[in-house]
Amino acid sequence: MVLNCNNNQVTDPERAIGVFDSGLGGLSVVRELLALGAGRHIHYLADQCHAPYGVQSMETILAWSKAISEWFIRGKIKVIVLACNSASAAALYSLREQFPAVHFVGMEPAVKPAVAASKTGRVAVLATAATLAGGPYKKVLRDHANGCQVIPRACPKWVDLVENPPESPEEVLTEVKSVVAPLLADGVDQLILGCTHFSFLKNVIQSVCQGNATVIDPAVAVARQAERIADTAGVHRGGRSDCRLFTTGDAARFEGHSQSLLGQSFPVKTARWDG
Ligand code: DGL
Repeated sequence: MVLNCNNNQVTDPERAIGVFDSGLGGLSVVRELLALGAGRHIHYLADQCHAPYGVQSMETILAWSKAISEWFIRGKIKVIVLACNSASAAALYSLREQFPAVHFVGMEPAVKPAVAASKTGRVAVLATAATLAGGPYKKVLRDHANGCQVIPRACPKWVDLVENPPESPEEVLTEVKSVVAPLLADGVDQLILGCTHFSFLKNVIQSVCQGNATVIDPAVAVARQAERIADTAGVHRGGRSDCRLFTTGDAARFEGHSQSLLGQSFPVKTARWDG
């Protein structure tokens, strides 16, 4: 299985960072990378024809993540950010082993800061089924739960709320409430966003919390980590930070959505799966 794009996908590889997700979610990390303004050239791939990842088998997510990484590597990109908790769960360790010359930045649920901040000793991880089944989540639980009760909650409808927003905001609120209200009633005071799509639901989640729980979004921390790794890897800084967007789905639709989520417009091209 090979990912292709007719257009020369990587411009200025010396300044380039690759970022990918199943769809719009990873733009939450791109938004923070742009805000850091380090003058990188961000290439973002949204594998929308395969979204959602979080309900797929680990083997399938690994195969897609590997092919996307190979696509970036063919363009001479040295730093690849898995702006997707599900892909990180399925593929991060394996990609690091298979491509030792490439620097992979992955995501894991932010259990450590949540446990440190919790006063009730109860925190919840909102994520996909794949993330909650994966090695990185098991590892952070082992290393950082520290006697705190960590409640995993798969939210199977939430990715779709971002990819295909319903006409009425009431629908989003009702769905978010149905997951978050019982957690608050259980004394949870920290909600960890364990899926990058959920960053774009943060305002709604916060409105349901009414100050009774803190929402922890790792996007800023991951963007900073990516910048540190890019510096270590010798990726150049300079000029204005810039972005090129690729989707395996509908480019026109992605352009509209990405513009409203990023607050600025970038060119979008289509990438195609072969084989
Ligand atoms: N945004 C991704 C994540 O962080 C993928 C969600 C999905 O496609 O199911 O897990």
